Amino acid sequence: MHESSLPGGFVNAVVRVGDTVRRPASTRTTFVGDLLRLLEASGWSGAPRYLGMDDEGREVLGHLDGHVAWEPQQPASVSSDESLVTVARLVREFHDLTAGSPLAGGREVVCHNDLSPKNTVYQLSGGELRPTAFIDWDLAAPGARVHDIAHVCWQYLGLGPSVTDVAEVARRMRLIVDSYELTDRQRLVSTILWWQDRCWRGIESQADAGDVAMARLRDAGVVRQVQTAYQWVLDRRGVLERSVQ
Ligand SMILES: Nc1ncnc2c1ncn2[C@@H]1O[C@H](COP(=O)(O)OP(=O)(O)O)[C@@H](O)[C@H]1O
Ligand SMILES: [Mg+2]
Repeated sequence: MHESSLPGGFVNAVVRVGDTVRRPASTRTTFVGDLLRLLEASGWSGAPRYLGMDDEGREVLGHLDGHVAWEPQQPASVSSDESLVTVARLVREFHDLTAGSPLAGGREVVCHNDLSPKNTVYQLSGGELRPTAFIDWDLAAPGARVHDIAHVCWQYLGLGPSVTDVAEVARRMRLIVDSYELTDRQRLVSTILWWQDRCWRGIESQADAGDVAMARLRDAGVVRQVQTAYQWVLDRRGVLERSVQ
């Protein structure tokens, strides 16, 4: 069957074959398969279906129709308040479905760990793009609710020097935590900093160890960008923390 490569991946070679997507298998494949089956069995449509492995040892996932927001320029509706609220509610839904399950391994929930517009499928609803599903689950693991919500704040609000209006971004951060109904708010901003720190150090150490995809990210300046974003959040920590309490 014909294979076409899918744009927007930053790490893996992902191809489309008919109604399916093929991704390289990883050490996380079994976990991800179990997770996606659990979500499907719950009737949740916010993740691709897991369809097993193909003859080449790749993961086979159901293709989700819609718009994946991986390009830097996006229609305004991708980042509207309504879309942010929908993202937060979708995260709440899959967290609640995994809470208390064996996959959560005694932690609060299963976290996606890479939530961002690049890993979100949007569909038109009333003429506006709205989030309907998340893709790229290969970093999913047991964790705390605040881990994913901190990542959502960082990625969907683009926290960093490109933000021109801090009060506005603080309001939108509050909108995310309120829509999720997050109780664990005290450590939200420190968790954003933890993610940013972990992200650039991870890229750097894996690039040093010879990982080609990570070396590409480092060469594209991503380590520097994330360090700058970290410093930006650190410098505005007080105002951001107060906005979500
Ligand atoms: N289940 C899916 N349905 C539709 N498109 C998908 C799906 N999985 C991946 N894609 C497309 O492939 C691209 C790369 O996939 P992704 O899982 O994000 O890879 P990477 O790990 O490299 O970021 C996405 O930007 C999206 O366009
Ligand atoms: Mg991705």
